[in-house]
Amino acid sequence: MHTVDVATPGGQYPIRIAPGRLESLAQTIPSDASSIVLITNPAIQSLMGERVTQVLAQTGKRLVPVLLPDGEAYKTLDTLNLIFDAMLGAQLDRRTVIVALGGGVIGDMAGFAAAVYQRGVRFVQVPTTLLSQVDSSVGGKTAVNHPLGKNMIGAFYQPLAVEIDTTVLNTLPDREMSAGLAEVIKYGLILDPEFFEWCEKNVAGLRARDPELLATAIRRSCEFKAWVVSKDERETGLRAILNLGHTFGHAIEAGLGYGEWLHGEAVGCGLVMAADLSAELFGFSQTDVQRVRALVRAIGCPILGPRLGGVDHWMQLMRGDKKTEAGEINFILMPKIGETIRRAAPAELVAQVILRNTA
Ligand code: NAD
Ligand code: GLY
Repeated sequence: MHTVDVATPGGQYPIRIAPGRLESLAQTIPSDASSIVLITNPAIQSLMGERVTQVLAQTGKRLVPVLLPDGEAYKTLDTLNLIFDAMLGAQLDRRTVIVALGGGVIGDMAGFAAAVYQRGVRFVQVPTTLLSQVDSSVGGKTAVNHPLGKNMIGAFYQPLAVEIDTTVLNTLPDREMSAGLAEVIKYGLILDPEFFEWCEKNVAGLRARDPELLATAIRRSCEFKAWVVSKDERETGLRAILNLGHTFGHAIEAGLGYGEWLHGEAVGCGLVMAADLSAELFGFSQTDVQRVRALVRAIGCPILGPRLGGVDHWMQLMRGDKKTEAGEINFILMPKIGETIRRAAPAELVAQVILRNTA
């Protein structure tokens, strides 16, 4: 088992990574917990819900299951209310522990519910998609979407632990694997050229789900993310680098309607656009733009974004991003692979990048 520690002002906790980790879940529940709320969706319930229920039953605690509809389109305040209805209906107190069993959608919603239910109860992240194992379960960002913007209603709230069972990825659809790999390669681009190269060399094996390669990718990604969020939990500075590609990506998700493209697919395409804009502004080399494009294509993500009704609409959508300040759209850009800079970009350059990278 690999353990990666996260240490933030909001909480210190382990990320435990191992095949079969689900079987040990009962040990993660604190002995003083009054009850456990298991939040998941019907798809995950049918794959592993019974197994996890049996494991959690070993604690002898009352278990309240909550099933949420599946998909990004349901990451809303209305869906969140289903959690509160179940918890209040069961008269659960503040010693309740929430277990989030699922991908980033379940993790983000269950985490937000934990942050605000009776002003805060403890929760455990059990991520079941590659994207959630390498990114969303770590760092305490929790949120739901609003029709006017992605992840606009939320809180920073750290889990008690992140329990990663690498074997659950066996059932994950290929498209979801590709979306998760977009967040993996992002770490190489922002922090570590050698890791980016490692991804280039091993992309075929990663897509073929070689267990050792996947375990390495997950461990390294968690180390990168843990390092960043431990230095800057609330995104006052450094943490913003994790948003490379996300300003473009969020525009794609919001513009097409949440759930049309997967979050990771939008990020993958956003990485290409960020590389192109970095070349315009900071001399990021054309060779490296091509490397980013080639790797995003190789992981199976789209490299051309949708037109979204034209450049003006793109701009409007990007202005809705949380990184916008006083009307200026801020981008995370790269002078070179492994280095980042946060900067507003001239609108005409952004427009050229959009036109070149959409179809
Ligand atoms: P997701 O949660 O929608 O899961 C993808 C699909 O895979 C779902 O249909 C789910 O039911 C299914 N699934 C989950 N586990 C499975 C398994 N083991 N086998 C088969 N199917 C399985 O999507 P996601 O990519 O995990 O997460 C995307 C979300 O994460 C977005 O809402 C995004 O905004 C958020 N996110 C949050 C952060 C953060 O820091 N909090 C970071 C990145 C992304
Ligand atoms: N996924 C971006 C962050 O956690 O900050």
